[in-house]
Amino acid sequence: MNGQTSRRYLRMTIILVLTVFILLTGCGAKSYPEDHEQLSEDERIIIRFSHIVGEQTPKGLAARRFAKLIKERSNGYIEVQVFPNGYLYKDGEELEALKKGDIQMIAPATSKITNIVPEWQILDLPFAFHNVEEVHDYLEGKIGNRLMTKLEAKGFYPVSTWDNGFKQMTNSSHPLREIEDFSGLQLRVMPSPVLKAQFSELNTRTQSNSFNEVFHLLENKEIVGQENTFSNIYSKNLQLLQNYLTVSNHGYLGYVVLMNKTFWDGLPEDVQSLLQETMDEVAVWERMIAQELNSLNFRELEKCNCIDIHHLTADEKRLWEEAFEPVYQQVEYKFGTEYIRQLPKNKR
Ligand code: LMR
Repeated sequence: MNGQTSRRYLRMTIILVLTVFILLTGCGAKSYPEDHEQLSEDERIIIRFSHIVGEQTPKGLAARRFAKLIKERSNGYIEVQVFPNGYLYKDGEELEALKKGDIQMIAPATSKITNIVPEWQILDLPFAFHNVEEVHDYLEGKIGNRLMTKLEAKGFYPVSTWDNGFKQMTNSSHPLREIEDFSGLQLRVMPSPVLKAQFSELNTRTQSNSFNEVFHLLENKEIVGQENTFSNIYSKNLQLLQNYLTVSNHGYLGYVVLMNKTFWDGLPEDVQSLLQETMDEVAVWERMIAQELNSLNFRELEKCNCIDIHHLTADEKRLWEEAFEPVYQQVEYKFGTEYIRQLPKNKR
């Protein structure tokens, strides 16, 4: 063998040894095949993602984007099937369905997980946050950590948190400016004790119905009003049945994206990483879209000439805040001072 031939021989031997090593150890290999075209549904990973809002909402758009990216990035091996508008499971049913493993993913409003982990009510406190960045900081801090751990202990894996935005008041009776304006109204709220307490401080009666029922409840005059974000109001056409809108930004509405924990724990590590990294990226996009869509939908409401809009003044806001003070005390009494002390308004 001359020098050139022996170098070539050595190189081929190294490549062969490395190939055998990679094949044997699986080092760097994905747990799923590159070519999955021939695989049946049973051989791929199917994630059924059920939610209750329309597709043209921050949650609806983000769910679809997540599904699209995952399909592309896993070459179709992982399929996220999105079921919007409560077609598969309604409000109040989806958590149970996730727990049982009938679906693998949901993104309920944080107010709706308060019967599982009551401490999540903290996010419902009126005027607790001035902007979404404050909510993000709170959730990324030690309280957020605690809230996530409590969810895991109940069998739910929190993959991310998404924004919608801040809630506004709508009703069909009269403008809501002063505390007295709320007296005797019948309003729909999401199922969270803090939201109930918030309105009972204003002498308002509340009922907790599924989001998909709100339009009909208003149409049948079973309720006179409700609180929600511009995007939820507009995507459900509530402005057609409501005469008055108060831009109050009095409460945050956001989502926690949940997976069934047993399902999550059973996924191969590389699949978990792909899902988590893609979700982190989608969450950044979702937050941006949520702001854009809420501003856009507010402009549509201004233009429609169908609803009288009042912007809560600083004085009116101060009076609302004073009226809500007992709700903070109730929460502090129930969950301890730490949750309240860590709120941005108390940390300034
Ligand atoms: C509501 O019930 O008002 C909202 O939670 C709907 C949603 O998921 O945005």
